[in-house]
Amino acid sequence: MRVTIFGTGYVGLVTGTCLADVGHDVICVDIDQAKVDGLNRGVIPIYEPGLEPMVKANHAAGRLRFTTDAEVAVAHGDVVFIAVGTPPDEDGSADLKYVLAVARTIGRHLERQVVVVNKSTVPVGTADKVRATIAAELASRGAEFGFEVASNPEFLKEGDAVNDCMRPDRIVIGASSATAVDKLKRLYAPFNRNHERIVVMDVRSAELTKYAANAMLATKISFMNEIANIAEKVGADVEMVRQGIGSDPRIGWHFIYPGAGYGGSCFPKDVQALAKTAQQYGYDAQLLGAVESVNDRQKEHLFELIGRHYGVASHDGALAGKTFAVWGLAFKPNTDDMREASSRRLLQLLWDAGAKVRAYDPEATEEAQRIFGERDDLVLCDSARATLADADALVVVTEWKQFRSPDFQRLSQSLADRVIFDGRNLYHPDEVEAAGLAYYGIGRGRSILID
Ligand code: UDX
Repeated sequence: MRVTIFGTGYVGLVTGTCLADVGHDVICVDIDQAKVDGLNRGVIPIYEPGLEPMVKANHAAGRLRFTTDAEVAVAHGDVVFIAVGTPPDEDGSADLKYVLAVARTIGRHLERQVVVVNKSTVPVGTADKVRATIAAELASRGAEFGFEVASNPEFLKEGDAVNDCMRPDRIVIGASSATAVDKLKRLYAPFNRNHERIVVMDVRSAELTKYAANAMLATKISFMNEIANIAEKVGADVEMVRQGIGSDPRIGWHFIYPGAGYGGSCFPKDVQALAKTAQQYGYDAQLLGAVESVNDRQKEHLFELIGRHYGVASHDGALAGKTFAVWGLAFKPNTDDMREASSRRLLQLLWDAGAKVRAYDPEATEEAQRIFGERDDLVLCDSARATLADADALVVVTEWKQFRSPDFQRLSQSLADRVIFDGRNLYHPDEVEAAGLAYYGIGRGRSILID
């Protein structure tokens, strides 16, 4: 099938590449000329495992093209995807300016019947707005073509997006006509193997499904962070509690890891946007508000532990003269993405307290440089070991595999204050303490185990 995708960001690029990989003829269109030129030369603007060779192979095979020419792109696709960003507005609701700009472009160039598919995460009711926008453009030039706006949310995880796209656990299609459903079923047939993965529903339900999925996952994390904070108070170890509840299939093992708070481009934004939508419809979504505020507080928890260890109550200048080695800056492993990353809050708090930071991330160094610029109180190191030079303490913020089993004896010798703050509960407290280091994890209060 012929497919057009507006937006070569994370979602658009991965989706376009995977659709080309199963044999569809894909044109990706973006307004950013430099990005499009880069993609045509094989330069991938994001770090995503497995993506680069796939883009190159499909581009070379002629199934995947990149252009800034919207007219050519609209003329190409039987299915036209909108996969552009929906950044949060000042009030937390999703800003639809990019989505509606694409809708106008489609309306301006449309010359035949198509199915327009919203892949961007958009508030319930957006498909109606997209339809109205396209219709208004068509009307303004006296054109009349049958078109439909469907919703097909993505469920891609950064770092595993290619796999999620090639082997989806479900494909949600929200549409209002059999023609659109049929077209999208044919488009996704190569991914719908072994058992039925396609769930067909109305457009609004599909739009809400995306938010419900992310809000549920964010809720699990905030819930576990809350339990962790209670565990710390009552002298229990949340890691034991996690193991004690995860085997219940109604709870499950996934997304019950307490930590330094969730970040990224989806959870923070989507939880806020869903709460905002609810509010616009006159409903006070209390649980969503709590999920967000628990997360917000959790992002400060590592700093609180640091304050507790050093016995400092106020932030201003209280840690002057201290240097912290920080492992991990990305919001999670296997990405260079630092949007809403917990590391950003931690570093700011450390700097406000007068401390210096020596940080290392396997992928996010460039991004960190872009975000923080040059500053006297930050050194971006090229290895985990390099952060330890002159460091007083170590803080682990992102659970990259390579941080999982450090040499604690060496750490004990390197860190002047002999203390580790483990924001992802990577280490066993006993092992760290056996090396003569103080250990702080998330929710790891401990009482005595009697033999
Ligand atoms: C998420 C959803 O998983 C994906 O389905 C959706 O399409 C987009 O949003 P992503 O933001 O890439 O994907 O990352 P994810 O792996 O879900 O992690 C999100 C955040 O939650 C990270 O900061 C991670 O560290 C944190 N997290 C995750 C926890 O703190 N504990 C957990 O148990 C799981």
